[in-house]
Amino acid sequence: MTNKKVLAIYYTQTGQLTNIMDNFTQPLVQAGVAVEKILVQPEQPFVFPWKASVFFDKMPDCVFLKPVALQPFTPQQEQYDLILFGYQPWFLSPSLPANSILQHPTFKAIANNTPVVTISGCRNMWLNSQEKVKGLLQQANAKLVGNIAIVDKHNNYVSLVTIVHWLLYGRTDKKWGIFPKPGVADEDVKNASVFGNTVLQHLQQENWSALQPALIAQKAVRVHYHLMFFEHKGAHLFPIWAKQINKRKNRAAWVTAFKYYLLFALCVVAPTLYVIDFVLFRVFKLNRIKKQQQYYSGVALK
Ligand SMILES: Cc1cc2nc3c(=O)[nH]c(=O)nc-3n(C[C@H](O)[C@H](O)[C@H](O)COP(=O)(O)O)c2cc1C
Repeated sequence: MTNKKVLAIYYTQTGQLTNIMDNFTQPLVQAGVAVEKILVQPEQPFVFPWKASVFFDKMPDCVFLKPVALQPFTPQQEQYDLILFGYQPWFLSPSLPANSILQHPTFKAIANNTPVVTISGCRNMWLNSQEKVKGLLQQANAKLVGNIAIVDKHNNYVSLVTIVHWLLYGRTDKKWGIFPKPGVADEDVKNASVFGNTVLQHLQQENWSALQPALIAQKAVRVHYHLMFFEHKGAHLFPIWAKQINKRKNRAAWVTAFKYYLLFALCVVAPTLYVIDFVLFRVFKLNRIKKQQQYYSGVALK
């Protein structure tokens, strides 16, 4: 099967997504598919590790999908049989480089009328960002045929501690020797090849409608109720904060307020609301929850 052409296009800051994309594309390369990889870079790199003030200051631009300038990138082909789009959520939205790729004329030209599989590598909150990616792909007239979300499977609060250790202090070791290593587990990075193989089968058969059900069966996406609950709250509140931060003269003070609010919301408000919801209301909305989980597991756009 040497005549198929696949473009794998993505951004990564720490290299985690490079490892995921390399493992993912391995079965395709082995099968003789021509896989072209493009790692897109912003013109102004995001400094790593992040200063907290810069980190939280990026929230409004992420939420409003404001693109940043990208270094030029040139796909070798005019048309591909499949595009693999790798990205990471930032503040429940595609990262700034990721949204910029999706809105870039070069990407839009090759994505037009082309099947796309999205692959995200993140902490654990990707539902809302995937909705935004679906919207941007639709604007590019691309056909989303599959989605894989590769996450840090540790407890939400454990991964909150370890991601701060990683992103704000640049550390990839076990915090205090007791926390797990930050990011997606090595075995889950390697396991990306299993999903790559599934995509390969469907590419060979050109049977795109069967792809996402097959990926769901392999647990390439999992929608946990508690994380969906937290994300719904965040997705509602972030734009309210983002508008305030953007219009205030004392931006830095508002960004700091948002930082503490987010910490408080994540550690106090969200778990409290979740327990109340779980005890009093969840039982009455089991059907709706199931429908939402099915929706987020799929590739359709509401
Ligand atoms: C500014 C910023 C915001 C982030 N927000 C989220 C988020 O909303 N949900 C999530 O699951 N991970 C979030 N992450 C983690 C990233 O999705 C990703 O896992 C991590 O940055 C490593 O990705 P990379 O090295 O491939 O760029 C965030 C990271 C950054 C830098």
